[in-house]
Amino acid sequence: MNITPETRVADVATANPATIKIFQRQGIDFCCGGKRPLAEVCEEKGMSFRALQEALEGAGGEAPQLPAGDAPLTEIVRFVVDHFHAGLREELPRLGEMVAKVLNVHGERHPEVKDLAATFRALREELEMHLLKEERVLFPYVERLEALVLQGRPLTTPPFADGPIGAMEHEHDDAGRALARLRELTGGYVPPADACNTFRGLYHGLEEFEAALHQHIHLENNVLFPRTARLERELAA
Ligand SMILES: [Fe+2]
Ligand SMILES: [Fe+2]
Repeated sequence: MNITPETRVADVATANPATIKIFQRQGIDFCCGGKRPLAEVCEEKGMSFRALQEALEGAGGEAPQLPAGDAPLTEIVRFVVDHFHAGLREELPRLGEMVAKVLNVHGERHPEVKDLAATFRALREELEMHLLKEERVLFPYVERLEALVLQGRPLTTPPFADGPIGAMEHEHDDAGRALARLRELTGGYVPPADACNTFRGLYHGLEEFEAALHQHIHLENNVLFPRTARLERELAA
């Protein structure tokens, strides 16, 4: 879509729901009060139209490259924390607020939103704990193992990785089931015909959240965890 100063906020949000995140960051109403030209909103907020236009045009294109499968484990851990965990810490509260708003406004007409809200809330709580467990227990251990390799020293403490890895994999399975449930409840993230922009933005956001979480779990389950277990065996031998 060609974005001009006359284009209305709500039309941008409808054409590309990835722009909703940008409006939210700037505190711009894209939903019920969104039928206003961008120029007017920029003036009110003291923002440059060009800067907003550039951000809106670039929305949704910021997917970074996953690290290579044979990258140092420390690098993979950094990437997981800086990209996936930081992304969840930004998205979980944002989506949580949108779920609450949609439930409040549309819960009566769309009863599936109640299940959606409950499933999301439980998943959010699980994930917030999960991130802390990885960051405080497993990931520092991974970094310690790799430091031993660099120093040419063996592992002198009893092997430890299997327990936390098993627990994290188990929680990943739970998260995977919750994601499948969310997809089922939303009919594959297709918003109802009467959905407002917040409703649309929520479904769009949840679908991106699903894709990111699948990639995140893949990187941990299929790269980070098996390589950590192998490294620990080698160091202990
Ligand atoms: Fe993680
Ligand atoms: Fe994880």
